[in-house]
Amino acid sequence: MKIILIGFMGSGKSTVGRQLAAKLQLPFTDSDAWVEEQSATSVSRIFESEGEAVFRKWEQRFVEQLDEKGEVISCGGGLPCFHDLMAILQEKGKVIYLKTSVETLVSRLENERKNRPIVASIKDETLKEEIRTRLASREPVYRQADVIIETDGKSIQDIVDEIVKL
Ligand code: S3P
Repeated sequence: MKIILIGFMGSGKSTVGRQLAAKLQLPFTDSDAWVEEQSATSVSRIFESEGEAVFRKWEQRFVEQLDEKGEVISCGGGLPCFHDLMAILQEKGKVIYLKTSVETLVSRLENERKNRPIVASIKDETLKEEIRTRLASREPVYRQADVIIETDGKSIQDIVDEIVKL
C-alpha cells in the first residue's frame, strides 16, 4: 500500500513523509528528489532553463512509473494539479492532503523561498496574496484526497501519529 502526501509548499510533506516511512518501516520517496536524480539537475534549474512545462512532464513520468510496492511518497506541491495526476495518484494509493493555513505557509515560506522557483522571486509584500491565490486555485484538487489532515498547531509527531492511526 502506498501512502501519498500532497499539499502546498511548506505544508511539511517531506518531513512528515520521512518520519512516517521510518515509523512504518517503509521506503520513502520524494517526487522532487526523484526528478532531480533522473534529470541530473535541480528543480530550480529545470524551471530556469527549460520552463515549468518541462518540470510538470518530469512529475508525470514520476507518477506513471510508480509500481505496486508499499512506500510513503511526498509529492511536489503542484504535482496533483497537472496532467490529471490526482486521478492516477488515487489509483496508486491512499492520498493524504496536509492542509495548512495561508498564515502558517507564509511564515514558513518567507525564509525558505530560494529553492522554490514558484515563490523565489515574489516580494515579501505580495507573498501572502500570491500564496492565498495559488492555494485557492489548487484546493479543489487537494480536497479530492482520501483523507484531509489539518496541520496547523500540530507537531510533526502528532501528524505522523494521526496518519498511522488511520
Ligand atoms: C512546486 C512545489 C515544489 C516543487 C516545485 C514546484 C509547486 O515542491 O515541486 O518547486 O508548484 O508548488 P514542494 O511542495 O515540496 O516545495
